[in-house]
Amino acid sequence: MITDFPEAPLPLLDGTETTAELAEFGGDPVIPKGLRRTVFPVITKEDTFHMLRSQRSSPEKVVEEFAERYRSYVGAHSALPVASGTASLHMALVGAGVMPGDEVIVPAFTFIATAQAVVAAKAVPVFVDIDPHTYCMAPERAEAAITERTKAIMPVHVHGLPADVPALRGVCERNGTVLVEDASHAHSAGIGDSMCGSLGTAAGQSLMADKNFPLGGEGGIAFFSSDEAHQRAVSCLARNGIDYRMSWIVASFGTSQLQRLGYYDAIRARNAAELSRALDETGLFTPPYVPEGYTHSYNMYRIGLRPEAVGLEDLPVWKVKEAVHELLVAEGVPAREWQNTPIPCHLPFTHRHGFGNGYPFTLNPEAARDHTPQDFPVVRAMLESTLVLCRELRSPVEHERLQRYAAAFRKIAKRPDAIRTLVNERNYPRPPHQEAARLG
Ligand SMILES: Cc1ncc(COP(=O)(O)O)c(C=O)c1O
Repeated sequence: MITDFPEAPLPLLDGTETTAELAEFGGDPVIPKGLRRTVFPVITKEDTFHMLRSQRSSPEKVVEEFAERYRSYVGAHSALPVASGTASLHMALVGAGVMPGDEVIVPAFTFIATAQAVVAAKAVPVFVDIDPHTYCMAPERAEAAITERTKAIMPVHVHGLPADVPALRGVCERNGTVLVEDASHAHSAGIGDSMCGSLGTAAGQSLMADKNFPLGGEGGIAFFSSDEAHQRAVSCLARNGIDYRMSWIVASFGTSQLQRLGYYDAIRARNAAELSRALDETGLFTPPYVPEGYTHSYNMYRIGLRPEAVGLEDLPVWKVKEAVHELLVAEGVPAREWQNTPIPCHLPFTHRHGFGNGYPFTLNPEAARDHTPQDFPVVRAMLESTLVLCRELRSPVEHERLQRYAAAFRKIAKRPDAIRTLVNERNYPRPPHQEAARLG
């Protein structure tokens, strides 16, 4: 049973945490064992009551009510609630007018579903590198990849930071393509007053349990900027007899959880700001970059490394990363990799079996390319030099826990000698690990 409360309170900090011996070498971990679990998502009694009450209504109405409330929150023209984020992206592409054999430009760094949704729409994903600061699709790389058969550009607001939509819109306008957002990490994120999900011709968004707006298990929603786009998606489902419907249980959780989304967003933003301040002071660690006027939703918080700031510039950065990873985990901070190779190096895109006989890749063989990680130097550099925190910043993470995460980073940054020792003792492999591509 997941409850609103952790099993026991974390002790308050006493100031000795950052000077104690590293846990890796026998000291006390900053987060004691047994107090490391992060409770997420939170299901409250309001959610349960709302679900029980909604049994009196018809399933269609429960789903409609959720979709309408969330559409209005996002500020999109119309919405289509579906069973998963992947289904929502498929519908967003179809709604935007993507046809079999078309090319859709996607970033080489995302979750594999972004590109798989393109294949589901019978189109061919064309992968491009990312921007070194935002980690989102690089607009100039997208423009360079456009051909006569490019129908759409699909940026991902990766980690929760909106992609450079103004520049990408310019690319679309200059080249007669449409913009389709993958807003799966970007609930409540936006640029100025506009929220992700309302920035393109269409958008897809996952609402599965590990997202910032997690409904009951699996779910997704597509957004459209016109009735025409919406209708194209709805007709595709009807014509082909595809059941992508959202479950009413998921929808009823969505309606009640939407009331708490703003609160959760505020806690996460506070936690991220506090951790960013702490990382800035360490020298070794760098916080995520957020351009002026952009709202980051921190579905993931990617931490960079500057070995040169602590005299470790002679070591390969990926080895420093592996050592830091080991030290953080020993302190009880569940930092991890998220993705370990560019998406085009995952098996579905190296084998390209598709739906059988290579379909839909065979519709446009020119666009379907063999890639190695070296084709995406910025993705590769990011994978080699960064780690992520995921649910560690999300409500109901207590302030004490966050302070302890910050203390663990401070503690490790003070010990370049320990990092060097681990690098010398261990035989860390160099990412990306092509043979062992992980999905998440
Ligand atoms: C960027 C991105 N796009 C799409 C998806 C697919 O969503 P789902 O798992 O709900 O199908 C995910 C899911 O984790 C994701 O992270």
